[in-house]
Amino acid sequence: MKSRALLGLLADGQVHSGESLAASLGISRTAIWKQIRRAMDEGFRIETIRGKGYRLLTEMDLLDQNQILQGLSLSRRSAIELIVLDEVDSTNAEIVRRRRESGSGRVPVCIADCQTAGRGRRGRQWQSPRGQNLYLSLGLTFRGSFAMLDGLSLVLGVAVAEALEQQGVPDVGLKWPNDIFLAGSKLAGILVELQGELEEGVVQVVAGIGMNIHMTDAAGVDQAWASLAGALPERRWCRNEVAASVIESVLAAVDEFVESGFGDFKARWQNRDIFSGKTLIASHGELAGTGHGIDASGNYLISDGEELVKVRAGEISLRVRS
Ligand code: BTN
Repeated sequence: MKSRALLGLLADGQVHSGESLAASLGISRTAIWKQIRRAMDEGFRIETIRGKGYRLLTEMDLLDQNQILQGLSLSRRSAIELIVLDEVDSTNAEIVRRRRESGSGRVPVCIADCQTAGRGRRGRQWQSPRGQNLYLSLGLTFRGSFAMLDGLSLVLGVAVAEALEQQGVPDVGLKWPNDIFLAGSKLAGILVELQGELEEGVVQVVAGIGMNIHMTDAAGVDQAWASLAGALPERRWCRNEVAASVIESVLAAVDEFVESGFGDFKARWQNRDIFSGKTLIASHGELAGTGHGIDASGNYLISDGEELVKVRAGEISLRVRS
């Protein structure tokens, strides 16, 4: 988005003259006009007031690296390498590329304003329109085996749910293994991808989080979805604040998981289980029963009336029987 700096100046919703904008950005008034046209082509509503200047009518929520860093505790701020991009194929893919190039020792965190090839679980696409949602990935390194990943994916769900609750969002639900739900609709999804083994016993993982914040239209999404602004319109949602809160919560949860394992997370996950007590059916229809929460390793348990049957993350997907 070439007009990003210009939109930053217009973001206050006030009238700005072409002259003052040109002076602030160190470019000509003709260049300002071209950028205004380009921004309008990208969907921003900008009013031209004859003799006075320009006013942005679209509410802006621009990503800002400094604002995200300011929202983090000092220790987290120095522990991460924060990359904020205008556009990328996938923030998960970007983490993989950056990690190949640099070994700063800090946790790489990538956030983008839009993704051209956002990916979801089970090979699905993740709709990633510009300027509306949060697309965030973290590169995490663990000492251990691949087996820890099932637990990790549930831990991440708990961390995102807790970050939302700290932001004042009530009744956040978790749909096994790690979808974040609000009032029966999906608000956020998490994609955990294995990057590989750095050396014997050192596993590199990319954790990608997509959260709907301002989105009002998602033509290609085939399931009920929610957004923060749609569910809680009285609040002015700021992606930088939500991002900082998610990063802080995820990194704290990962530290806890590494130190103490999954134990404490079981109850924190289960308290938010949207499947509990519901009649469920597994994706291929071969298993039906009542949702019974998770076991100590994060497997989902279904009661078929006689026994509890275990469902492992990644093997099968669950839905409520209609
Ligand atoms: C799901 O299918 O529920 C998981 C969706 C994960 C989407 C996020 S957006 C940021 C990161 N980059 C991607 O390409 N995917 C994840």
